[in-house]
Amino acid sequence: MKSNPSISELARVMAAGRKVDAQNRPPGPRGGRLMGVMREFNRDSLGFIERAQREYGDIVWTRFLYVPALFLYHPETIEYVLATNARNFVKAMTLRSNFFQRLVGNGLLTSEGEAWKRQRRLTSPAFHRHRIANYVDTMVNYSNRLTSTWQEGETRDAHRDMMRLTLEIVVRCLFSTEVSNDVDQVGNILKQLVKPFASQATLKWIMNNRLPTPYHLQFHRLARKIDRVVYRIIAERRTNPHDEGDLLATLLRARDEDGSQMSDQQLRDEVMTLFLAGHETTALTLAWTWYLVGGNAEVEKKFHQELDEVLSRRDATMADLPRLKFTEQIVKESMRLYPPAYGLGREAINDCEIGGFPVPAGTQVFMFQWVTQRDARFFDDPQAFKPDRWTEDFEAQLPKYAYFPFGGGPRACIGASFAMMEMILVLATIGKKFRLELVPDQRVETYPAMSLRPRDGVKIVVRKRPSDEVSTGSDSDRVTVRQIGCH
Ligand code: HEM
Repeated sequence: MKSNPSISELARVMAAGRKVDAQNRPPGPRGGRLMGVMREFNRDSLGFIERAQREYGDIVWTRFLYVPALFLYHPETIEYVLATNARNFVKAMTLRSNFFQRLVGNGLLTSEGEAWKRQRRLTSPAFHRHRIANYVDTMVNYSNRLTSTWQEGETRDAHRDMMRLTLEIVVRCLFSTEVSNDVDQVGNILKQLVKPFASQATLKWIMNNRLPTPYHLQFHRLARKIDRVVYRIIAERRTNPHDEGDLLATLLRARDEDGSQMSDQQLRDEVMTLFLAGHETTALTLAWTWYLVGGNAEVEKKFHQELDEVLSRRDATMADLPRLKFTEQIVKESMRLYPPAYGLGREAINDCEIGGFPVPAGTQVFMFQWVTQRDARFFDDPQAFKPDRWTEDFEAQLPKYAYFPFGGGPRACIGASFAMMEMILVLATIGKKFRLELVPDQRVETYPAMSLRPRDGVKIVVRKRPSDEVSTGSDSDRVTVRQIGCH
């Protein structure tokens, strides 16, 4: 895929708007002549997409600037785009911004066609169940390390803590202990690099701003810096090939059917993709989960009961995961209410029909977890946090695309099992020792940036759980901190 929309691409996208006459279009907000609905959308994205469904129904036609867009809210049409007719769609043009392309290049998230298929084939083994089992200790040990300095009564920001924790985990799982200095360096650069994504307004994404502002120059400087570190690590590992048990080792070894392997640049692009796709999403779910659990005494009590029964005071292992059922339900319910990926976008390659409406090639199609996962047709009492709803029977009758926090079809999240495992282990490891009490009277607001963030974080007060009081600062804690690694 090209890194920027070319003139011909723009022409195609604009033509899509003219191809369908007004009578054949689904209903929808027209917005201003020049800007379309861009202003309203940028003012309050979540409110806008909710209102669009309320006022116009399950299929909505609208326009951002010169770009025609279709909003789909029903599981059937979402399934059609993501799964059944996935071949007729590529990722939406919002993913073709300079920033994004500079960071992840032609990695899994952004590539298309044969290039994507090959990379998906080569990368999948790194996420097989037996392979990700290697990372249990890393996840548990880093969670323990985070809390090792927590003091009773201390006020913290759970969002910030979870961002730090998941970044450390993903960097460590990609690059093993051998490169511990690099882990810190990569982590620090990444933190600065992803900052622009917090403020990327839709207009900027679409206009693909290339101006050499100090801000952009700094971004490119950091990108070059992280490239140097990643390429050096790849070169070192190529000259000294042994299985470190980390994700990079699996990517380095992966061979296609014809025996070919990933080039250095492909490896670099995948490493950056995994950093980017793999840490903020997980951190956000964790932050929102602490917020939801902290605000619901009944759920919190049941959560702690499960941890006491299953783990008592020992650390969680892979074998415990199936028994941490309620913790898993909490995560599922949290991702229903606060999906980090709150919307997905695609672009139609060829003309097609969706829900009886003609959809010309070039149309941008958007589906919103934020709205569909809160739809009363599929979820009873949809605004309420009810982890108990996630029974096997409930899941069996739920339309598949009424709940799609990890997307679906061929482009579904490759890291879903990794993320689920990580989130359950982090919650269990922290939750068995601490209660994260919400600071009263704070306003926790959604901020739909690249992912769905809590605007000003989630402020919590640390409360030690009684069973932990004797064990705090014990030798076993200190040993755990020293033994951090991937195995
Ligand atoms: C709660 C955590 C996560 C959520 C909610 C999430 C969500 C998603 C979604 C919705 C997609 C599909 C995007 C689309 O269809 O346009 C996706 C793709 C992807 N995710 Fe995740 N993700 C999470 C964690 C992870 C982790 C931990 C990793 C890796 C370590 C990861 C790596 C990827 C990659 C590489 C893709 C692109 C797959 C492809 O196109 O073949 N994600 N993720």
